[in-house]
Amino acid sequence: MIRLELSQLKPGMRLARDVILPDGRLLLLAGFVVKPLYLRKLDSFRIEHVYVDEDFFEPVEEFEEERLYNHAAATIKTIFAMARRNRDADIVQVRETVNDILNRVMENETVMLQLTGIRDIDSYTFLHSVDVCIYSIIIGKKLGYGKDPLMTLGMGAILHDIGKCKVPVEILQKPDKLSDEEFHIMKLHTVYGWEIIKNSYQLGTKIANVAFQHHEKWDGSGYPMGVSANDIDPLSRIVALADVYDALTSDRVYKKKELPHVAAEYILNNSGILFDPFIVDLFIDSIAVYAEGTLVLLNTGEVGSVVSSGHVGGSRQKISVFSNKAGPPVLQPYIVDLNERADVEIVEVFV
Ligand SMILES: [Fe+2]
Repeated sequence: MIRLELSQLKPGMRLARDVILPDGRLLLLAGFVVKPLYLRKLDSFRIEHVYVDEDFFEPVEEFEEERLYNHAAATIKTIFAMARRNRDADIVQVRETVNDILNRVMENETVMLQLTGIRDIDSYTFLHSVDVCIYSIIIGKKLGYGKDPLMTLGMGAILHDIGKCKVPVEILQKPDKLSDEEFHIMKLHTVYGWEIIKNSYQLGTKIANVAFQHHEKWDGSGYPMGVSANDIDPLSRIVALADVYDALTSDRVYKKKELPHVAAEYILNNSGILFDPFIVDLFIDSIAVYAEGTLVLLNTGEVGSVVSSGHVGGSRQKISVFSNKAGPPVLQPYIVDLNERADVEIVEVFV
């Protein structure tokens, strides 16, 4: 076993020790073969070094989807930086990025879903924008939208928070509750977003409207206008839901992330209150809460991959267990069906 700086770690190496965060959470397990996705995860949590098995190497290729995801994040990061300095943005590149995400989701949405949800606090806004775009397109696809409406939806989703570039960083990253005045300024990102998209980028009203309305709530309790139900544009209702789900499942300066099934239950409990009930149903059906292949830790210490993703408010997951942190080595993987084991639950999600 050798200790490596994170910069020396390469895909294909095998972790020799668990990677544990300062707050005690398990990030990755000993025995995992490093994938490009893990490097992003380790980097996002500012892990400085890891232990690997010296004699082990198994070539691993980066998925096309991972390349696309990283490219999308870099594009949106540039757009935010430009907007902050009042410089012209390369909207053609944003359009190409959304088009690539759209095409990929049409082919295989599961792989795109597996990429969402890994980010640190600093890069939150950019990666959140990409994730909201992916979720929104998946919901739009489920609604039967054609290519043009899906492009409009994807553009609105990826740019929904662009107005935040006009909000002071001290407010955006404040760990404590915002004062009334700070919250007032924060809420203005919806109006700024409209102005930037409509005036600076010369994009259509429908895209600008998503930025303007993405904090409106089904019951009229949102902002900036407090409109309700069908007075909120359908595209904004989709992005509003994707935005909340992604925020709940992320670590933020002021809170730890929720597990996907906890976030999805929150959405379900607020169906018809904060969110359009019709879109909630589509969301619950289409965003597999635990995509097949997700690696999870159970409260029994067993580690495995999801083979059946379950359904919020309905069936639970089935897990193929290949390792046990609390017991003897697992020689032959076996299935744990959570439907038959009320005492067992998922306590950690790896990748
Ligand atoms: Fe927002």
